[in-house]
Amino acid sequence: MLNIIFMGPPGAGKGTQATRIVDEFKIPHISTGDMFRENISKGTPLGLQAKAIIESGRLVPDEVTCAMVKDRLAKDDCANGYLLDGFPRTLPQAEELEKIGKELGRPVTVVVDLAVPDEVLVSRIAGRRVCPNCGASYHIDTMKPKVEGVCDRCGGKLIQRKDDNAESFKERLKNYYESTAPIAEYYKAKGNYSAVNGNANAELIFENIKTVLKGIK
Ligand code: AP5
Ligand code: MG
Repeated sequence: MLNIIFMGPPGAGKGTQATRIVDEFKIPHISTGDMFRENISKGTPLGLQAKAIIESGRLVPDEVTCAMVKDRLAKDDCANGYLLDGFPRTLPQAEELEKIGKELGRPVTVVVDLAVPDEVLVSRIAGRRVCPNCGASYHIDTMKPKVEGVCDRCGGKLIQRKDDNAESFKERLKNYYESTAPIAEYYKAKGNYSAVNGNANAELIFENIKTVLKGIK
């Protein structure tokens, strides 16, 4: 069963590769960042709570994030696999996910960690444009859409994320190294962890991730 986690720093290409993997394997893409942004744009209570935190690049509290993921993983479309993008991000989230997975009978089966050097991340984030409708990512220089400003996948209008500025990025990267990178050890100890070089051509990375996933299916 493909119950996947995508890990990696901000700008590593989690969303870019997740879009490709879910299209190929027909499993739901569960991006906690996208879920929060959707709540923000709809002005829900969760969105109001998360807005300032996300725009400044800090982490949303574990209890809030875990409750949101638990509800999502319980939905019927996750019965035949799922891809978690950007969750878990702290050790308590990883431990809670373990419990949720057991409870629902949907445990994580594979962790893919995309590795990209910091200097590459900076230029990826600075030139990123995203589709708020389907979550697809583009870049003004390296991954242009076919029509400028329009999503290839769903026709949505591309925008720049509010947290894609130098200050918020610095905060996101700091939180990544402090809270998220260490959970790689947690998954390495479980034996279902693979690091994939994320500093390459997107097609090559996609092939390398599929090779990892073939060992699971
Ligand atoms: P989230 O939305 O998850 O942001 P992030 O982790 O900072 O990651 P990004 O989405 O910025 O990067 P990505 O790896 O998806 O890169 P992408 O594919 O777009 O989270 C946002 C916020 O929500 C957090 O800061 C936090 O506040 C909150 N949050 C979310 N989850 C949480 C949790 N679990 N707990 C607490 N808080 C949480 O690619 C980046 C750019 O690079 C694009 O322009 C793309 O076109 C380009 N690119 C991608 N691959 C390549 C390639 N191979 N070559 C050249 N360019 C490439
Ligand atoms: Mg993303």
